[in-house]
Amino acid sequence: MSILEILQFPDPVLRARAADVEKIDDRIRKLAADMIETMHHAEGVGLAAPQVGESIRMVVIDTSAGENPDEILILINPVIVQSDGEASCEEGCLSVPELRERVTRAERVKVQGYDLAGRAVEVVGEELLAIAIQHELDHLEGVLFFDHISRLKRSRYIAKRKKQLVEGG
Ligand code: NI
Repeated sequence: MSILEILQFPDPVLRARAADVEKIDDRIRKLAADMIETMHHAEGVGLAAPQVGESIRMVVIDTSAGENPDEILILINPVIVQSDGEASCEEGCLSVPELRERVTRAERVKVQGYDLAGRAVEVVGEELLAIAIQHELDHLEGVLFFDHISRLKRSRYIAKRKKQLVEGG
């Protein structure tokens, strides 16, 4: 397994809609393993394929952050089929450096997708898992968590980030 480079905003891959995974082959299985390794190394609880430069619909989530292998979730072509309630939580993103903001999302979601063996899977997530599922699936649409905060806070962050990049930060 290898640790992959995590793209950072404003990389355009992060803003693209990702394509369906057409075939679950060794390349996809290797990518999933590398994404898990990369997520754990970066101490994240989720990672979407576009964040490592692969614009395809696959995410990995581990709300135990490497503590419990049973909690690792790999979802291919995932779709949220049910969501309810409302919860707000402070979020950050491995692709959005130096920003943490409170985001309001559904409290509970049901997601369907496929695992690495091509079997249909259905997961009901609450609390941190619900938030991680919604955050990671947003990445497949080119949506970043700051799209859910106020326009003022978002534009302030983007301006700061652009300034940093110009200055070589
Ligand atoms: Ni993220």
